[in-house]
Formats: sequence, C-alpha cells, structure tokens
Amino acid sequence: MKVLCVGNQKGGVSKTTTSLNLCYSLAKTYNQKVLLIDMDSQGSASLNLQIDVASEDVHTIDELLEPIVLRKQATVTWDALKECIYTPTFTDRVRDDDDRMKWKQVNTPFGFDLIPASLYLSIVEMRMGIAAGQFYKGTINQFYLRETIIQTLRENSDYDFVVIDTPPSLGALSVNSMAAAEDGVIIVSNLDVMSTRGIESFIESTQMVQMANPSHRGILGILFALYSDRRQVDRQVDNWAKQFLPIPVFDTRIPETANVKKANSSKFLVSQIDKKMKAAYDAFAYEVLYATEHPDEPIGNAKTEVIEEADQQTSESE
Ligand SMILES: Nc1ncnc2c1ncn2[C@@H]1O[C@H](COP(=O)(O)OP(=O)(O)OP(=O)(O)O)[C@@H](O)[C@H]1O
Ligand SMILES: [Mg+2]
Repeated sequence: MKVLCVGNQKGGVSKTTTSLNLCYSLAKTYNQKVLLIDMDSQGSASLNLQIDVASEDVHTIDELLEPIVLRKQATVTWDALKECIYTPTFTDRVRDDDDRMKWKQVNTPFGFDLIPASLYLSIVEMRMGIAAGQFYKGTINQFYLRETIIQTLRENSDYDFVVIDTPPSLGALSVNSMAAAEDGVIIVSNLDVMSTRGIESFIESTQMVQMANPSHRGILGILFALYSDRRQVDRQVDNWAKQFLPIPVFDTRIPETANVKKANSSKFLVSQIDKKMKAAYDAFAYEVLYATEHPDEPIGNAKTEVIEEADQQTSESE
C-alpha cells in the first residue's frame, strides 16, 4: 500500500481537484485500488463526491481521530474504520434494458473510496494542542494518522494507493498527513511567483518529517496546475522552477479551464467531462505510478507511449 499526500500551505491552488482526479485516474485508467482520505475540515473533497458530511448519519475521520488525540484509545479498530469508508457515486444516464427508447438514472461509483471529513476536524486539530510553530520546537505529534488509521489500513485492507488531501496550512493536520505519506508528498502549485516561493517552508516541514523517519520518501515532486502556456508569466515561472527549485518538477502541466467549475456544479469530476483534462491527469497519474515504482529514478523518466497517447487524445478533442 503506497501512501501519498497532496499539499501546499497556500489556498486555492488546486490541491483538492488534483487529489480527486489523481484518484480517479489511478483507479479508472490504471486499475488501482484507491482510497482518498479527506484531511481538510472544509471537507471539499467529500462534498465534491456528494457525501453529506453535515448529516449525523455520515461517519467522518474526525470521529476516528478524536479519541486518539484525547488518549481515550490507542488505536483505530478495523470495524470502526470500515464505518468511515464510503464508495462515492455519480448519477449516470443509461438506456433502460426493458425499453431501449427510454433512459434511466443509475448511481455509478467513481471507482475509488473515501474517508470523509467534517468541520469538526478543525476542533480535533485544535485538540491536537498544536500551533504550527510548535512543530519547529519538536513538540508536535506527527504520527496520529500514520500510527492509527494508516496502520490499520495496512493490516486489513488491500488498497494499492491511499491519497490524502490536506488543508491550506502547515498545522497539525498537514504535518500528520505529510508524516503518513511515506511514499511521497506531492506539492501542487499555480505559477504565481509568490506561491512557488512560499513553498519553501512547506519543503522545510517535509524535511523535518523525513528526519523523524528515514524511510520517508520526502517530496515526490511539484505539480503545476492552473497552467496556461499563453500566459508569459507561467512560462517564465515554469523555467525558473525547473532551474532553481530544489525539488523535482512533474512533466505534466494541468491546464486552467472553466470546465473544473462546470464539473463541480454538475457533480462530476473534470476528467469525466473534459478529454484534455482527463489526458493531463492520466499523464500525471502515470508519472506518480512510475515514481512510486522506481524510487531511485528522477521524476521525468516516465516518458512513454502512455503520455504520447494522452497527447493524441488531447489533439483529437480540440
Ligand atoms: N485546473 C483548473 N482550472 C480552473 N479552475 C480550477 C482548476 N483547478 C481548480 N480550480 C478552481 O480553483 C478553486 C480551488 O480549487 P481547489 O479546491 O482544488 O483548490 P485547493 O487548493 O484544494 O483549495 P483549498 O486551499 O481551499 O483547499 C476551485 O474553485 C476550483 O474550481
Ligand atoms: Mg482543498
């Protein structure tokens, strides 16, 4: 079971969109068994997948973490964890088998599972008793997630990938997500100069997590999302990043498109309604798969017919 997290302390840079579409590609295109963990109290990933986290009937990750943080329990049992694992679906229109002239609506799984988060996760984070600064004093507990939920998943489930979507901060939830993501932290950024420079402290935090666990892969790479090659600044920052950032840059660029908002409002993922975006996320997911399977090779070695195929699909859809 490979564990990854998607993060950036800056908000609105496409972390959640990346987490969702990465999971979709890994599951649908590459046939992987995938679980997405929502570690953001905004619950954006959960809401995007139509899980009503405000409902009392829905079990969320905060319920699992709170007794651990309050030291009422030392671990999360598989029975309790299973209650929090959902298989989100979207509404699809298919021909009615009884009358082929008619359409009917069916709920079709996105192909991956989810542990949702509710707003209460922010209280749990507060209970972790941690201001972001304490991490630097070495007093943060970074292992709440890794030693409980992730460990129980390792012992009981058959997921190939666990992907953790994180909040826009360097607080306890992000640090716990980083520490759990032993197979690599994926940074998502737009090409705004300030936001790429702002990732320095994010990189530093990952390095501290790595110091506490030498088998942690550290930062897998940075993915540029919200990319437009028509914007001069995007091309400039892209070149700057490849030369000067101390971390690998994924080859794939995720284009900026209004179809992301359109997909959100129509309750789909953008990969489901936009071929160009699907091709981009498939190429990115392939890079991620390749990187996790070839830990000794640098990012960028994943150039294959898969990416060429994705390019071909892109030009066909234009
Ligand atoms: N490739 C894209 N093209 C255009 N709009 C996008 C793209 N990716 C994300 N967006 C839009 O940007 C906004 C933020 O996206 P998203 O929620 O994925 O970011 P985030 O980094 O997870 O935000 P937060 O920091 O609040 O968790 C959303 O309105 C989304 O629709
Ligand atoms: Mg988000």
